[in-house]
Amino acid sequence: MKRILSGIKPTGSLNIGTYLGSLKNFVKLQDKMPDYEFFIFIADLHAITIYKDKQELRDKTKELAALYVACGLNPERVNLFIQSEIPAHSQMAYLLQCNSYVGELERMIQYKEKSKKQETGITVGLFTYPTLMASDILLYDAEFVPVGKDQKQHLELARDIAVRANNRYNNIFTIPNPLIAEVGAKINSLTDPTSKMDKSDDNDKSRINLLDSENIIRKRIKSAVTDSLGTVKYDPEKRPGVSNLMTIYNVITNTSFTDIEEKYDGMGYKEFKEDLGEIVFQELKPIQERYYKLVNSKELDDILDKGRERANQVASKKVFKFNDRIGLGRKRK
Ligand code: AMP
Ligand code: TRP
Repeated sequence: MKRILSGIKPTGSLNIGTYLGSLKNFVKLQDKMPDYEFFIFIADLHAITIYKDKQELRDKTKELAALYVACGLNPERVNLFIQSEIPAHSQMAYLLQCNSYVGELERMIQYKEKSKKQETGITVGLFTYPTLMASDILLYDAEFVPVGKDQKQHLELARDIAVRANNRYNNIFTIPNPLIAEVGAKINSLTDPTSKMDKSDDNDKSRINLLDSENIIRKRIKSAVTDSLGTVKYDPEKRPGVSNLMTIYNVITNTSFTDIEEKYDGMGYKEFKEDLGEIVFQELKPIQERYYKLVNSKELDDILDKGRERANQVASKKVFKFNDRIGLGRKRK
């Protein structure tokens, strides 16, 4: 069976931007592509390229797994697992490092940006991160890898490494293709509506997290930046604040911009924002209810155990095969 794989790092706070822009689409894929086997994992090995507190890492890892299921990821369809529980990821990463060049990794934009921000204490792990990501993908012979635009360069590197290894080691890997999500919508920051709502933004007011309380949800929308014109009109260039709120309204309710404009014609932002607060709250309520039931449940552990078992089966076989093709250890009889 052909395979689709993607990973997400357990850092920052999942918010309505990640949910409406990516997660929701992703959940649709599991039904749209019935011929594929799905692997989704929590990339905890990727999270430690910058030091993390132990408890925080554990909590975030579990939170993310539970949120994925709460948002509609179907554990019957998808192998959901935690990266570090599959030893083959680190093993394969080393083998791929020996098939990658320093120059290639030095060209990675994310590495350049992150190391520029942080002058000292840049770990070797941060530098080799893309080879770990390539190992995540190539271990499973994934044909498609759904990612955001920012990950495209890492995926191209994974392809280059796969092609190189295929030449050296008799076509061992499937060449992966990026699946850049059809953008549900780009949701912008509530405090700076010209930049994206970001899970790592230091300002909590800039976003609505999936686990925010009803009170916070309403408050964040109420205080979202708009303008002094006071009319509900869609014009993302000139009026990014109100247009961003209208996008959230549109994506959740499927109401067109013209219909939203008509509905709030002659009214100010107050009613519009109150309604939007209610709409967002109603969208997140069932997700949160499911999340709190799941997060410390045996059900979630069972889902992750099942995912681990299947992932291990596929990945350990692959790394064993690669060791053999390289000529490591004694020849297999
Ligand atoms: P991140 O974890 O922030 O790197 O994002 C994971 C996925 O969510 C990527 O596919 C992003 O393109 C998408 N995403 C993140 N933030 C937003 C946003 N504010 N609006 C739309 N999509 C987003
Ligand atoms: N690097 C990705 C990110 O930061 C997460 C990730 C890790 C990933 N391994 C992956 C995504 C493999 C797709 C496939 O978002």
